[in-house]
Amino acid sequence: MEHITVLDDRRIILGVTGSIAAYKAVDLASKLTQAGARVDVIMTGAAQRFVTPLTFQAVTGRPVYTSMWGTDTGGGLPTHIAHVGLGEGADLLVVAPVTANSLAKLAHGLADDLLSVTALAARCPVVVAPAMDGGMYEHPATQANLAALRERGVAVIEPARGRFASGLVGRGRLPETPVLLGHIRRALGRGGPLENMKVVITAGGTREPIDPVRYITNRSSGKQGYALAQAALDAGACVTLISATQQLPVPVGAVLVPVESAEAMLDAVLTYSRDADALIMAAAVADFRPAEIAQHKIKKADQDDEAPTLALRRTPDILMAIKTQRAATGHPRAVIGFAAESHDLLENAQAKLRRKGLDLIVANDITAPDAGFNVDTNRVVLIDAGGAQHPLDLTSKARVGEAVIARVAALLGTDEEAR
Ligand code: CTP
Repeated sequence: MEHITVLDDRRIILGVTGSIAAYKAVDLASKLTQAGARVDVIMTGAAQRFVTPLTFQAVTGRPVYTSMWGTDTGGGLPTHIAHVGLGEGADLLVVAPVTANSLAKLAHGLADDLLSVTALAARCPVVVAPAMDGGMYEHPATQANLAALRERGVAVIEPARGRFASGLVGRGRLPETPVLLGHIRRALGRGGPLENMKVVITAGGTREPIDPVRYITNRSSGKQGYALAQAALDAGACVTLISATQQLPVPVGAVLVPVESAEAMLDAVLTYSRDADALIMAAAVADFRPAEIAQHKIKKADQDDEAPTLALRRTPDILMAIKTQRAATGHPRAVIGFAAESHDLLENAQAKLRRKGLDLIVANDITAPDAGFNVDTNRVVLIDAGGAQHPLDLTSKARVGEAVIARVAALLGTDEEAR
């Protein structure tokens, strides 16, 4: 697993309490560690009835803390000062799963085990992921405790609906690791260079309907657009993701606006860009659509043994419409386009940058097998409005996303240098 920049080298305390979902926390600890975080696990006594400390030690490569009183530290901090030492240095405290009992302790400031004592000593942001059976989550006592925690700025990850170990069905299941990771990224991204910035991102290849069952589309997978959305969220932005693909998991925190055709994408982009700080058009918008959309399925039998001829019309150019809107309103303040080219990459990209009035264009040679459509890597050149070219080596779409988002922060004057 590739390191995740927003998690890299971050110090995370993972509190694990006594729920059957404690086994899922092992996967979370493992993924956080693989992503580059330094994970110190604190287990309550009840948690150790479900999973052993050794399991967490094996996946984190670090000592696991289980008691306030123990003297054998296994190489970790002496336990009588662990609560202060761990709490002081941490970037984030995550309690997943948190039981109704531990939640109540956190809400009321009780401090009778290492986790609850550490939670009081820590000054870092806190994320909790409740997991409990049956009606316990809905109970007014639990809800009041959650409200008190939210009031103090604790991020609460909503449990998922589903079947419990008891056989009951309801809300109370610990969400799967990718969802937990998404919330953790969001918490760590707060205060990032795009804090309070509204960023609109388009993704995927539009579908232009021929009849109720057929459409024209292109090879875009949407992966680069989704990676950009995640990078913007990691930088603290409010992200609206206007997506023509519904095949990819939506990054936690992004507001998804599903669209199908170029026309629908145009409407959505104009609407959501009205007060946006930045627009990134990563979508592969179809340039042509069928002139007529048949209301009923086109049947072979109606074609006299011939194939129908498809007449095409031009679709609207979204970036050209945005250029007009921006001239009138000043929004979006920064506009970034993509150029997917099969020849004369830099000349074509530069011409598009000028024609569409962009601040930055991401030029993409789609003929390379390891770049462009449907793969996880990309090889791009960033070209700015002044014509300066910044080629990036072959890298993951996640890293390309981060590089583009760093440029967006610079364009908006919110990067480190400007702050
Ligand atoms: N784009 C757009 N509206 C369209 C087509 C493209 O806003 N109808 C945007 C894309 O999202 C991308 C940029 O324009 O950010 C360049 O897209 P591309 O398909 O490379 O260029 P086109 O303008 O379609 O030009 P050509 O077909 O001549 O390459």
